[in-house]
Amino acid sequence: MASLPVPVQTVAAGRLRAMNAWRDLYQVADLIEVCFARSMEGESALYAREMRRAARAPAWLRLLEGVSSAPLHGFVWEEDGKIVGNVSVIPFYYRRRRIFLIANVAVHPQYRRRGIARALTTHAMKQARRQGADELWLNVREDNPQAVRLYADLGFWEHSRRTQWRPDLSFLPSFPSVVQVVPRRPEHWPQQRAWLQHLHPPELAWYRNWDLNHLAPGLFHRLRLFLSDVSVQQWSALKDGTLQAVLAWTSSGLGHDMLWLALRSDSALDAVTGLLIHARSVLGRRTLLLEQPAGVAEEALRMAGFVPHRTLIWMQAAGA
Ligand SMILES: CC(C)(COP(=O)(O)OP(=O)(O)OC[C@H]1O[C@@H](n2cnc3c(N)ncnc32)[C@H](O)[C@@H]1OP(=O)(O)O)[C@@H](O)C(=O)NCCC(=O)NCCS
Repeated sequence: MASLPVPVQTVAAGRLRAMNAWRDLYQVADLIEVCFARSMEGESALYAREMRRAARAPAWLRLLEGVSSAPLHGFVWEEDGKIVGNVSVIPFYYRRRRIFLIANVAVHPQYRRRGIARALTTHAMKQARRQGADELWLNVREDNPQAVRLYADLGFWEHSRRTQWRPDLSFLPSFPSVVQVVPRRPEHWPQQRAWLQHLHPPELAWYRNWDLNHLAPGLFHRLRLFLSDVSVQQWSALKDGTLQAVLAWTSSGLGHDMLWLALRSDSALDAVTGLLIHARSVLGRRTLLLEQPAGVAEEALRMAGFVPHRTLIWMQAAGA
């Protein structure tokens, strides 16, 4: 991405320029670590780790450069001879939509409140639109109101809130006896799919990087999962013979395993709780992650010994 001269309002001393992956990676990784120290897990930690790895190994960097969704493009703010601000601009192409994710917006603590994040994000948005963006997206933690305010100011609106849950490995409650948990049956799939589609909006499918249809029954899907090296187990919770919820576990060997909980708004609480406890007892001490719209199944998740890890606000802005 080419660097453009930027009208700098509140900041006179600095310079905004395109990030040069070959030169800037270590400094950007350092900056990300300083700025996200409070929440240095998940994507930020992964990003910083990958930046360092790429900086050490040119072959790896060359490989990453070929991956369009690798966060190697964006802009940095340089001042006093060092990089003090960063924004990544990550392109996705999904079902003929050109989508840009704005990520890793970070300004060194000593340079904050001088308009650097505003200048970087504005510039990133402008560049994405110039490249024909149909949609601009970002996500921000719910407990980061300053950043939310900045993005709202720049024209982003809230699309949804999604909470990620993890099991508390020190606590496994006992299973409610009135509930029947069985392996997911093929006839449960149409209902499971409808519930999942409701809980995982198609607008964010580009980011999920996982097609929910892979959970469908049948030899073809099993073969596809086998070839992609993805393991899956699925269970259904029944109460008085009625399907209440379905839970799928997927593991791709990439660090954490995902749980996909499908249920309706009036599913029986003990059935959902029992289903989650059953999965936990089968899966043992694995690092599980379950993502749901904020507020959905909270009571069942807590009763099954899950704790909220973080809630992300997904924000969207208009494209070109
Ligand atoms: C959030 C962050 C990027 C802001 O950087 P910054 O350069 O200080 O932001 P700016 O000076 O451009 O401020 C732009 C607007 O953001 C909001 N804002 C930023 N910091 C704020 C604060 N501490 N309190 C209240 N509002 C704040 C304000 O609306 C501000 O506009 P204003 O100065 O006209 O009131 C920076 O604090 C940071 O790096 N935080 C840690 C990493 C992070 O949370 N990144 C966002 C991830 S989504």
